[in-house]
Amino acid sequence: MKKILFVSSEAHPLIKTGGLADVAGSLPIALAELGQDVRILLPKYQSLKLAEEVEYRCTIRTDNRDVNIFETRLPETNVIVWLVDYPDYFGAPGNPYTDEFGNAWVDSAERFSLFCRVAVEISQNRAYLDWKADVVHCNDWQSGLVPALLTMEPNRPATVFTIHNMAYQGLFSKEDYFQLNLPGQLWHPGALEFHDMLSFIKGGIACADHITTVSPNYALEIQTAEYGCGLEGLLHHRHHELNGIINGIDVDIWNPGTDAHIAQNYTDKDLAKKAENKAALQREYSLPEEPSVPLIGLIGRLVDQKGIDLVIDCLDSLVNYPMQFVLLGSGDKGFEHRLKNLSYLYPDKISVSIGYNERLSHLVEAGADMFLMPSRFEPCGLNQLYSQRYGTLPIVRRTGGLADTVVDALPHTMADKTASGFVFDEPTVGAMLETIKRALLLYSNKRAWQQLQKNAMRKDFSWRQSAEQYLNLYNHL
Ligand code: ADP
Ligand code: GLC
Repeated sequence: MKKILFVSSEAHPLIKTGGLADVAGSLPIALAELGQDVRILLPKYQSLKLAEEVEYRCTIRTDNRDVNIFETRLPETNVIVWLVDYPDYFGAPGNPYTDEFGNAWVDSAERFSLFCRVAVEISQNRAYLDWKADVVHCNDWQSGLVPALLTMEPNRPATVFTIHNMAYQGLFSKEDYFQLNLPGQLWHPGALEFHDMLSFIKGGIACADHITTVSPNYALEIQTAEYGCGLEGLLHHRHHELNGIINGIDVDIWNPGTDAHIAQNYTDKDLAKKAENKAALQREYSLPEEPSVPLIGLIGRLVDQKGIDLVIDCLDSLVNYPMQFVLLGSGDKGFEHRLKNLSYLYPDKISVSIGYNERLSHLVEAGADMFLMPSRFEPCGLNQLYSQRYGTLPIVRRTGGLADTVVDALPHTMADKTASGFVFDEPTVGAMLETIKRALLLYSNKRAWQQLQKNAMRKDFSWRQSAEQYLNLYNHL
């Protein structure tokens, strides 16, 4: 049995802004089911949704600050979550990265460097918790200092750094570096320095014993200039210690057969019942309740990564076809504004909900016929997995984890029943439109469509296999 400290800035259902939370709220459960002793480390944000008892455990002194550690559990599990309590940093309303008005925290470097220092203290059993980690599993830049700081410790645990997104690096100035009292020995291009700046993510990439990304394809892509965000050289240099492990999903939370958020439960055996969710979704989005008009859904952060500009540019042409489009998301104000405008122009075809809404995200997955995900890059992507499980066929760009998890509907993949969605290559309006038209055409062939839905719903996206791969990695280290 390994003792694993799983360090993350978010974990569902306690706090979530994106897919990292889904992973941190489900992979540790899968590891625990494989008999491992996993503890999640998370900041004690003011906005945590705490459902289980929370207990004070200890106070750690690090970097001249007293930090309290509280303990709770992931709801309805035995997985322990240690919460890093430092009210000056985590006590105000907002999310992990922005205040309640959406402005990035000005002291992110201070917040997450303290968080990283606490991770080091706990993992080295200097926190009065009577627990020393064998492995520290860090995720994204917010935990990137941990592998770097641990290189300076004797008898340290092994370190794994998982990249969920290269586009967010935690870059700060050289002045910040020294204000944070970080050790001078780590200020060099082989550790935390990146072009005379402090790079949190580089700490993970340069110093962890092993690096993973959340899909095999993205692990290759980030070694190229197109996707490596300036770190492709270092990533390529470390390619022997870098691999991709595809994300699983929580198949209990995302189960159309039992999902309490949707209008009608269904399985691949009684797919006709899915129609009730479509009607409920159309009602909720004030669209005409038309059972036979194909309904395309999209959920996501409205940022460049997700190809939202392509969607906006495509919708003007798409409305000439029989179809409806619903979107749930928030992010870039310009995108929000343009999407709203389109919904005013075409109220019978396009409807947009701006905001974060967990219940509605389940209903979109259950009620739509197709799910659009034209990402410019996508480390793994979870919504295309949820979609397949709900028989809502994804239309995706061939990039990152989308390429690894969606099988394009072509004559031979339809014949061997592996087809589970629609895939296009170029990030252009033309390529996307052609592929959506291909999906709309196939939608009119009920038998073929149902077979695709069944293929998709029968795929195994559970964590079991991927959790085993992580466990092999921990054992190997
Ligand atoms: P990313 O992490 O890049 O945002 P993923 O596809 O990995 O993309 O995960 C996104 C997660 O966040 C999914 O669980 C998705 O359902 C959820 N999500 C994104 N936007 C919203 C929203 N507006 N309301 C509810 N859930 C959302
Ligand atoms: C990131 C990526 C997304 C991935 C998620 C969880 O936010 O953008 O593709 O699914 O992390 O690993």
